[in-house]
Amino acid sequence: MERTYLMIKPDGVQRNLIGEIVSRFEKKGFTLVAAKLTILSKETAETHYGEHKERPFFGELVDFITSGPVFAMVWQGGNVISTARTMMGATNPAEAAPGTIRGDFGVQVAMNVIHGSDSPESAAREISIFFNEEELSAYEKTV
Ligand code: CMP
Repeated sequence: MERTYLMIKPDGVQRNLIGEIVSRFEKKGFTLVAAKLTILSKETAETHYGEHKERPFFGELVDFITSGPVFAMVWQGGNVISTARTMMGATNPAEAAPGTIRGDFGVQVAMNVIHGSDSPESAAREISIFFNEEELSAYEKTV
């Protein structure tokens, strides 16, 4: 079963959007297999966003993502990687469609509420940065 890494950013946490966002993925039918509220170290943030190291906004990105708690999650389900990205909407909230998370709640590209893995490779990499294998709950739904 496919898994993805989703992270509610400091703006989403401070605007009390954790419940709203978790609810959307629950109602869609995906399964939450790990979650924690955590403040990222600069090192972890730089590792997570390593592919953006040469971008002019890299410093701003790392400063923001370490500025307060994030809500780190692993979700499981069929096509969860691409479907979660559809549910999140475009990276720039100004271009994100109404009904998507960023379209409904985002204000600016640097504070776009949520991050989600963009491929199976990045999902595997990002999950391993934030969670140990024993923190992932593998279970079959019984209710
Ligand atoms: P995310 O999906 O977390 O991946 C990289 C992040 O970089 C992206 O969401 C945006 O929040 C951020 N980002 C992209 N472009 C810019 C920009 N021009 N200025 C600041 N942050 C940006």
